[in-house]
Amino acid sequence: MSGLLELVREDLRDFGGYKSARTESLQGEVWLNANESAWANPADVRGTCRRYPEPQPTSLRAALSALYGCDESQLLIGRGSDEAIDLLVRALCNPGRDAVVVTPPVFGMYAVSARLQGAPVIEVPLRDGAEGFAADLDAIAQAALAAKAKLVFLCSPSNPVGSAIGLDGIAALATRLLGTALVVVDEAYGEFSDLASASTLQARHANVAVLRTLSKAHALAAARIGVLIADAALIGVLRRCQAPYPVPTPCAEIALAGLARESQLETGCRVALVRSERARLHAALAAMPGVLRVYGSQGNYLLVRFHDAETAFRSLLAAGVVVRDQRAAPQLGNALRITIGSPEQNDRMLSALRPQEAAA
Ligand SMILES: Cc1ncc(COP(=O)(O)O)c(C=O)c1O
Repeated sequence: MSGLLELVREDLRDFGGYKSARTESLQGEVWLNANESAWANPADVRGTCRRYPEPQPTSLRAALSALYGCDESQLLIGRGSDEAIDLLVRALCNPGRDAVVVTPPVFGMYAVSARLQGAPVIEVPLRDGAEGFAADLDAIAQAALAAKAKLVFLCSPSNPVGSAIGLDGIAALATRLLGTALVVVDEAYGEFSDLASASTLQARHANVAVLRTLSKAHALAAARIGVLIADAALIGVLRRCQAPYPVPTPCAEIALAGLARESQLETGCRVALVRSERARLHAALAAMPGVLRVYGSQGNYLLVRFHDAETAFRSLLAAGVVVRDQRAAPQLGNALRITIGSPEQNDRMLSALRPQEAAA
């Protein structure tokens, strides 16, 4: 057994999952095996939606594995990276027994999926220091070993705090947790970061898994295409735990078009623009008297602490600018997270905060 399969719930290791009509690779011309309609819906002009889709569409798999530089056998395509998070928790954690480590303040879905599975959630808070928020990798390793956690979720670049985790630290953590836990590095914002992907560690550290998505830099949030890049044997298990046809044909089509060469060139230009706008906004916000701190960010957002976050939030809303209120999150009692928009949107956001500046 691959060492990683020992992390999978015993009852799921040889679980066959649902055998759909699409699972068997049969040949023929008249397809009467899946109770589909013989005619397209009038709204389906090209007739592409009449049949169930391939569970993992071949051409999209090829495009995504080229994009992320991994083997197709290491790739699971799901309904956003949210689905991959949920599958990991369900396949690895026995309810009431196997814990998940998270690093608040952080993206909430790791804890939500754990909660739904009845998996204990171990929190190892990020540390706020001169360089910004940082994951305490030593504390994470100790907590994971003490709780016999099966999964450690690292978010890099981290939502909402913006910092990224160095690959050396991730590699060292994976070594400490070899045989006991999978280290999942969520790189939903990886395109905006200066750091290389943790997938470059996988050849030497099989217990590192990486989450990527087309929802952010690739501007396809509504298509719900996310991937998990991990050990091929683990991907095999997760595919058998996944819903039968998780990638709708219209979503696969737009994702494929969105990964064509011209689209990728445009995406690259937009990522560059977001990064330059991020630097501009960081400087402009940091210079405002009402602002206490702007955190450095490797993502497409900035975390900002205000003297009076309530007034800042209300002023933005009054100007029609909606940002993410982070005040309920641990350690973020006075913070808002502001997504980097177009230059015009960013200017509007800055001018909405200026009356506050005059009042401060
Ligand atoms: C860190 C992080 N991971 C994952 C996701 C989910 O992305 P997807 O749209 O691929 O489900 C988000 C969405 O905001 C996120 O911030």
